[in-house]
Amino acid sequence: MSLRLLRTVDHVREFVRGPNARGQSVGLVPTMGALHRGHMRLIECARADNDVVVVSVFVNPIQFNQSDDYTYYPRTLDADLQACESAAVDAVFAPPMEEMYPEPIHTTVEVARESQGLCGNFRPGHFRGVATVVMKLFNIIQADKAYFGEKDAQQLAVISRMVRDLNIPVQIVPVETVRERDGLALSSRNAHLTHEQRQVAPLLYHALEAAAESIRAGGDVLTARNTGLNVLSNQPLLRVEYFEVVDANTMQPVASIAGATRIAAAAWIGNTRLIDNVRV
Ligand code: PAF
Repeated sequence: MSLRLLRTVDHVREFVRGPNARGQSVGLVPTMGALHRGHMRLIECARADNDVVVVSVFVNPIQFNQSDDYTYYPRTLDADLQACESAAVDAVFAPPMEEMYPEPIHTTVEVARESQGLCGNFRPGHFRGVATVVMKLFNIIQADKAYFGEKDAQQLAVISRMVRDLNIPVQIVPVETVRERDGLALSSRNAHLTHEQRQVAPLLYHALEAAAESIRAGGDVLTARNTGLNVLSNQPLLRVEYFEVVDANTMQPVASIAGATRIAAAAWIGNTRLIDNVRV
């Protein structure tokens, strides 16, 4: 089957009706486009698990808290379609704005605890926008499984919680972060880094790994945090926004290591904000 480009809610619903009636599984990879190897890994996992794969490409205005960030977010639909075609995706759902938001939206989804702290402190309303659009995509496409990268660990926690709390019939599949050789997590935002900034960017991952290593060696949360922050100090090109040791499910800071833990960080390099995390 060759790739279908679907622009409307009716068309994508009609498209998935076929596989649903035949008892075939549908995997959804929600994206904002500008597909890179990280997205391609999500698509590979969806392809391996499902009969039919749908990729959504929609730059969701209600999750941007800075209008510039929304305006300059890369939009590369032709290249995205080519990448999807070569990854044997069945359909791309790329609705125009009026299709997703034909009128101002009055109903939103708020995942109270998981949206708090970390990025939630610095991007007010961001996770409400994410949860709301993902809920819309789930309702429109009715996939069996949906794939999300662990690089956006707080987003993953928010969506997993939303699915559990609201009994949404979709299985959330987390996919490991894809990294450059020097450790930098792949992100559409990496394209904005200058050559000099790009040299510095992997430090964020190295700091997270140093903190994780300290915990693996039996260190406490405070020591781990200080070890990580030390790696980032004296680096004038990089400004740390947060560096926290958190519970991997709730993404809330922990005082001691008990269960599944992540170390999560965000930093600005010039005008580019990078986030990353590692599991401990
Ligand atoms: O991770 C993203 O690209 C977006 O936040 C998502 C999940 C597609 C919602 O717009």
